[in-house]
Amino acid sequence: MAVTSDTGRWDALFAARTRADVGEGIAFVLGFLGRPDLISFAGGLPDPRTFPRDRAASLLAEFAASGESAAFQYTPTQGLAGTLDAVAGRLENLQGRRPADDELLITSGGIEALELVGKTFLDPGDTVVVEGPTYLGAIMAVRGFEAEVVAVPMDDEGLEVDELERMLVGGLRPKFLYTITEHQNPAGVSLSAERREALVELARRYGFLVLEDVAYRELSFNDDPPASLWSLAPDTVVQSGTTSKSLFPGVRLGWAAGPAEICVKLVSAKQNTDQCSGGLGQRILEEYIRRGWIDEQLAESRALYRSKWERLSAALSRSMPAGTEWTHPTGGFFTWLTLPPGWDATELVGRAADAGVGIVPGTMFYADGRGVENIRLAFSMLDESLIDEGIDRLASLLS
Ligand SMILES: Cc1ncc(COP(=O)(O)O)c(C=O)c1O
Repeated sequence: MAVTSDTGRWDALFAARTRADVGEGIAFVLGFLGRPDLISFAGGLPDPRTFPRDRAASLLAEFAASGESAAFQYTPTQGLAGTLDAVAGRLENLQGRRPADDELLITSGGIEALELVGKTFLDPGDTVVVEGPTYLGAIMAVRGFEAEVVAVPMDDEGLEVDELERMLVGGLRPKFLYTITEHQNPAGVSLSAERREALVELARRYGFLVLEDVAYRELSFNDDPPASLWSLAPDTVVQSGTTSKSLFPGVRLGWAAGPAEICVKLVSAKQNTDQCSGGLGQRILEEYIRRGWIDEQLAESRALYRSKWERLSAALSRSMPAGTEWTHPTGGFFTWLTLPPGWDATELVGRAADAGVGIVPGTMFYADGRGVENIRLAFSMLDESLIDEGIDRLASLLS
């Protein structure tokens, strides 16, 4: 009997939430991995040179030889006790506050923290405030829960907290606000110290949660970042972190720290996402922290990404036509470009691909079609020697 695959055959059975149109943004960006012919500024992926191959291999050999089972077994949903302890200690060292035992959980990457917070807080029709532009995984997660995304603009000091206040005074009532406080994806800017204080004050006054994503916090090129929102206001902030940029994304690992009353709900929600994060990654992370390897690794990573940004910054200054603007990150993986007047980024993406250059249009980082005049350039993974050529090709398209 012939197997039919008519389009629309399953429509009546698909859940309502699948009609929320989360888009194919992440798949689009990861799709560039299958185009090694492109000089790609598309994916915000870490440079494979930062992957700790030898140390990861020796740790695995050690776990196997020692007869320990934690690395190979299911783990408690909240995380392995040793890993939780190591992460709590690291947060204390870096951010000046140690989460209590019930204020921390291990997640399967930053994206899972978004999913868990969404599951815990959002009903259809609820509102979530994000930065405009923001991480497209956040837009997709919020939409997946059939909630509304409202973007607050940013400038060189990050989220415009004054504008947020005007919107709150005007009646905006979000369940939570999602912010990437350092070296933001995609804009490359960081939230200033003064605005951090003002933001948590607004959260307390208007009674919403702040979800602080610190994915790039440990990747500053030079100076340490200002106090984290979570350390300023642990009563109203959940911080989510990831090891994808500092260790390697292959382990899919992160953490969430926040009020105990919320963490217990997140752990509960995690039971039916993945039940527990991988024990092998958790043990590697624990040892990486305890042996000081993560700091050695980060020092190298920061120098590598700083050098790539300096190369990209010089290439942009040299080649881009008048009327093009871009942000000046002090860490992380991204700069955000504003095209000369008249250009449509969605159209430019195709032309750039024909010229052998991968870029992502700004529209992917908004929920409402804005970003047509912007593109995101990621400098993290691209071989430094290809940056000049890539920017020359892009600039000649715009000239
Ligand atoms: C701001 C931000 N948060 C979270 C993530 C997801 O990280 P993970 O690999 O830990 O899920 C990314 C990945 O690009 C990101 O840019």
